[in-house]
Amino acid sequence: MVRNWRSDIETTNLSKKREGIMLLETIEVGGCRSYILGCEQTYVAALIDPEISAIERYRGLAARHGMTVRFVIDTHTHADHFSGAREIARILGAQVVMNHLSPAPYIDLRLGDGDMLLVGALRLQAMATPGHTADSTCYVVGEHVFTGDTLLIGGTGRSDLPTGDPDKLYESLFNRLLKLDPTTQIHPAHEYKGRKGSTIGEEIATNPRLQKRDRAAFVAMMRELNISAPAHLTEALRVNMSGKKSVAQLLSEAGAATPFMSMSELSSRLSARQNDLIVLDVREKDAFEAGHLPGAMFLPRGQLELRINEAFPDPTIRIVAVCEFGKISTLAAATLRSLGFMHASALDGGMKAWREAGLAVET
Ligand SMILES: [Fe+2]
Repeated sequence: MVRNWRSDIETTNLSKKREGIMLLETIEVGGCRSYILGCEQTYVAALIDPEISAIERYRGLAARHGMTVRFVIDTHTHADHFSGAREIARILGAQVVMNHLSPAPYIDLRLGDGDMLLVGALRLQAMATPGHTADSTCYVVGEHVFTGDTLLIGGTGRSDLPTGDPDKLYESLFNRLLKLDPTTQIHPAHEYKGRKGSTIGEEIATNPRLQKRDRAAFVAMMRELNISAPAHLTEALRVNMSGKKSVAQLLSEAGAATPFMSMSELSSRLSARQNDLIVLDVREKDAFEAGHLPGAMFLPRGQLELRINEAFPDPTIRIVAVCEFGKISTLAAATLRSLGFMHASALDGGMKAWREAGLAVET
């Protein structure tokens, strides 16, 4: 029996299928698709291609089904979004699984072609399918295959990004993946048009890229695609290959490590002339001189740590950091907090918003 349901929660559409003992949840975040594959006999699950912004969603879904996620699998080194594998595996105490060619240093379990994972009573078999990237791997379980970006519904992954190879993609598709039973259901890492599902047979029949069945013609088509580079290409590769942070993560962590002060609160405190706080402008000199908050102290972010001791001998002083857009001031306030200035905060917004609100500026 197959049951489906969909609900719209923010950008996520969820669909759940039950086939025998197999639970399959599809989680959509933007154009990315992740999957929770669970064994309903043993309550062991694998999470495939998690995206960093949906970590709480995966966790909640696994908990709702009473599933313990034992494996977090990335089908390949993603170049277009930030992998949540390391973070969610750490939270859930799961193993990060990738191909043995994947460069990320945080992988717990590296698989080669033909290796199989036991997800409870389910057997999930790795099929190395290089081409989109060198480490691209599909995972086959019964009548289903998780294709990563090797095969999409009505498309294939591109082969022009780092470690991509159209010749290998041809080989992986026509001599490996497409040889699976035609009724096998495919589950790709991307779907931009909301199409629910497809099979190997349907793709062979209708997928425009798969109509070029001659190797040279396929390779020529892939070389001529000329698709623009994905947004965040270099940053996504850097983060996914190293397991380190994206700039957004760095800012979000700084934002969680410091309180903020609203513009109206700061404005009324400055007007009251209580002299109970220091406004610290952390922009560069020319920006400061062009206009700053009344009485603001100037100490650029780049010199903050090295001049902190002479600037603020009293660690109990209340400091409100200000910059142009509110991001550098957040980093500065988090730095101040980490250095022991426990009354440091950042202005919610920056000088740009302050000026636009018509609040007092001095030069
Ligand atoms: Fe990809």
